[in-house]
Amino acid sequence: MHKIAVIPGDGTGPEVVAEGLKVLEAAADTAGFDFDTANFNYGGDRFIDTGETLPEGALDELKEYDAVFLGAIGHPDVKPGILETGILLKIRFALDQYINLRPIKLYPNVECPLVDKGPEDIDLVVVRENTEGLYVGSGGFLRKGTPNEVAVQESINTRMGVERCIRYAFEYCRKRDRDKKVTLCGKTNVLTYAFDLWERAFNEVAEEYPDISADYAHVDATCMWFVKNPEWFDVVVTDNMFGDIITDLGAMIQGGMGIAAGGNINPDGTSMFEPIGGSAPKYTGKNVINPLAAISSVQMMLEFLGEDKAGKLVEDAIVRALSEGKIKSMSAGKMGMGTSDVGDLISGYVRESK
Ligand code: IPM
Ligand code: MN
Repeated sequence: MHKIAVIPGDGTGPEVVAEGLKVLEAAADTAGFDFDTANFNYGGDRFIDTGETLPEGALDELKEYDAVFLGAIGHPDVKPGILETGILLKIRFALDQYINLRPIKLYPNVECPLVDKGPEDIDLVVVRENTEGLYVGSGGFLRKGTPNEVAVQESINTRMGVERCIRYAFEYCRKRDRDKKVTLCGKTNVLTYAFDLWERAFNEVAEEYPDISADYAHVDATCMWFVKNPEWFDVVVTDNMFGDIITDLGAMIQGGMGIAAGGNINPDGTSMFEPIGGSAPKYTGKNVINPLAAISSVQMMLEFLGEDKAGKLVEDAIVRALSEGKIKSMSAGKMGMGTSDVGDLISGYVRESK
């Protein structure tokens, strides 16, 4: 019995989560496993009502679950930063979800903005460090609000944190068994402390994996090559900030936010899965948002719960729906069907694949 905490969250989060759960149920019925969900109303509305981001004890409670399925966090009436740091980053840090795993895969029939690139060219995974770097909130102001104000925001990189992330990338690459190549994405020519540590750790870990080739690319060049030669990449490992940026670019080359999923992984604890597109307030309640990213997050969650067969059923159903041209576009409002129709279609295909 898998215990799953569900945080539908803000904006279109609840709509896409509903479709994800529909598919999860179909996968459980078809592949034959049990799961139980509990709902948590964390998000902007609850913050506006109570002034609280997460209630006392929430983090300990979430740790009791095998996985968390999250819709979106972000509310137009709440100042940017409060919900992100108070809920999303808080959970990532407190549950030590030190990997942010973001597959970038172009499925058949999905419109790609890159000329002459197809599904065979775009199939990579970014392993983003998820608990350190510029995200830890280290720094502060001096003389705030005066003309002589100083703001410092430091990137924190521990040998332990960097090494466990790099090791995860190599292990993942070996299991994935595609090009057997891990690329470190950094900025060793300018960030001569942080990425010196990253590079040394990377080279040392790489020695333990003679079957995998180790490569390096500066982050700016990585952006260029994601567009020009995405086929060069298999597994990319990078720090928190660079990972945030390059995975938005990655989402675009795989067809947009409508299909981009991610996992916040603690290999020894509770992991959290989410569509990476955000709360999209302007589409809320209109049944137009694309739930495929949330459905792909369910697929990732199944794989991490050890339900590989169920995960495969979900991916096959997504590929089938796209190959048949049933979903016209990845963009909200342009799918040629509603949010719930997409969930019905995919869950129907999962059930048919018995
Ligand atoms: C993401 C998001 C978050 C991040 C924000 C909402 C804090 O952009 O998951 O990529 O920067 O990690
Ligand atoms: Mn982001």
